[in-house]
Amino acid sequence: MQLEQVKKVAVIGAGSMGAGIAQVCSQAGFQVAMRDIDQRFVDGGFRRIKDPLMNRVEKGKMTKEEVDRILANVRGTVDLKEATHGAQIVIEAIIEKMDAKKALFAELDAICPPDVVFASNTSSLSITEMASATKRPDRVIGMHFFNPAPVMKLVEVIRGSETNDATTAFAKALSVKLGKEPVEVRESPGFVVNRLLVPIWTSGST
Ligand SMILES: NC(=O)c1ccc[n+]([C@@H]2O[C@H](COP(=O)([O-])OP(=O)(O)OC[C@H]3O[C@@H](n4cnc5c(N)ncnc54)[C@H](O)[C@@H]3O)[C@@H](O)[C@H]2O)c1
Repeated sequence: MQLEQVKKVAVIGAGSMGAGIAQVCSQAGFQVAMRDIDQRFVDGGFRRIKDPLMNRVEKGKMTKEEVDRILANVRGTVDLKEATHGAQIVIEAIIEKMDAKKALFAELDAICPPDVVFASNTSSLSITEMASATKRPDRVIGMHFFNPAPVMKLVEVIRGSETNDATTAFAKALSVKLGKEPVEVRESPGFVVNRLLVPIWTSGST
């Protein structure tokens, strides 16, 4: 997949991370679908996008028209087929449970054309294991955004054992297009940032 081919991004999960990633993709000019398993979670995702942006409008930092444009580019749905239809990349941001992620990737693999790239926003789970639920492990990659995604610049790009160079280059190029700074990290529990931070947090120092 080439960055120039990307018109639509499907974001799966409308929680803290999914909503933030959907906003970032919309602001970068992509059509976005934001899918969750229940309409109230989809609605919650839109609130997560809108409320902080309206605070910025109140402070004179952006216009209501800009907010409306960002929201208008995002289509909420509970239907996975509708969400992924016409998308060139799917970014997964559902609960941090391997079984749920593998089930989702298997379902996505059955409905998305083979050239569609699957990215996971997992904080610590194995990309290789998730990719094994698909017939396209070479096109599955980790794109680890940080919270809040619209603010945080870093994206850790994590290759699974079968992720190919083209997919890695694509994930990095997409991150840059989204205004982020991609850093490729090795697949290992906690990746880099969380591996550094968790011992600091648990030791009580800041
Ligand atoms: N919160 C953070 O600080 C943070 C930072 C980086 C990465 N992450 C990772 O991002 C992912 C999402 O985290 P979050 O904090 O947004 O979680 P969250 O609990 O806020 O949101 C997860 C959403 O996924 C939905 N969901 C569950 N199964 C689904 C499915 N099959 N299809 C669509 N939606 C589904 C849930 O209904 C929920 O709305 C996790 O993998 C997490 O480890 C979280």
